[in-house]
Amino acid sequence: MKRKCFIFDLDGVIVDTAKYHYQAWRSLANELGIDFSVEQNEQLKGVSRIHSLEKILKWGGRTLNPVEFQNKMNQKNAKYIEYISDMNTMELLPDVDRVLKYLTNKEQYITLGSASKNARPILDKLKITGLFDAIVDGNDVSEAKPNPDVFLKAAQQTKSKAKNCIVFEDSVAGIQAAKKAGMISVGIGDQRILHEAQYNFQNFTFMSNNFLEQLINK
Ligand code: BG6
Ligand code: MG
Repeated sequence: MKRKCFIFDLDGVIVDTAKYHYQAWRSLANELGIDFSVEQNEQLKGVSRIHSLEKILKWGGRTLNPVEFQNKMNQKNAKYIEYISDMNTMELLPDVDRVLKYLTNKEQYITLGSASKNARPILDKLKITGLFDAIVDGNDVSEAKPNPDVFLKAAQQTKSKAKNCIVFEDSVAGIQAAKKAGMISVGIGDQRILHEAQYNFQNFTFMSNNFLEQLINK
């Protein structure tokens, strides 16, 4: 039996939380007198909390002392947690459940490779934690995407070689990380933004079981 390691990003791939990260950052940035565009927000996707704030401050030409910086990160996270507090299975993105079930039935490894420190409670709210053979998140790595560590750790935990790993990602940084890791990259979202990905689907509804089967047998 061929057993591949499928690595899912969380925010924007499994669940529609990308909008909450955006809203939370935008309100914090506005408070600091900084605005950023939807295009700039693409550069925040997949990026750790600390690097996101660094980027926003840079765009606004602002600096904060270390205490203020920490406070602002806490403030953003508190707002984000408020947004996701009553999240439920309805917020799973379309057809994610079909893909997860298909891969489970085919006895493939299913893993998480997310930059978020909130990943585990979110998986719990979505009631899908038990489907994962390994969960690697922002608490497990010090280097953020596009550094490949988060994906390499997921591979290690399932004893999979990089070439047998397939990464599903909605962020430019995540696709770059998958490529650096030597893994197959599948962009989930706008192809114009994720053009570095080997494959691309607007969302999982466009990804057939036949395509998954091809990945398994590659
Ligand atoms: C990524 C998101 O998954 O996690 C980013 O795409 C976010 O927007 C990052 O900044 C870190 O998340 P958290 O929940 O630890 O602040
Ligand atoms: Mg993402």
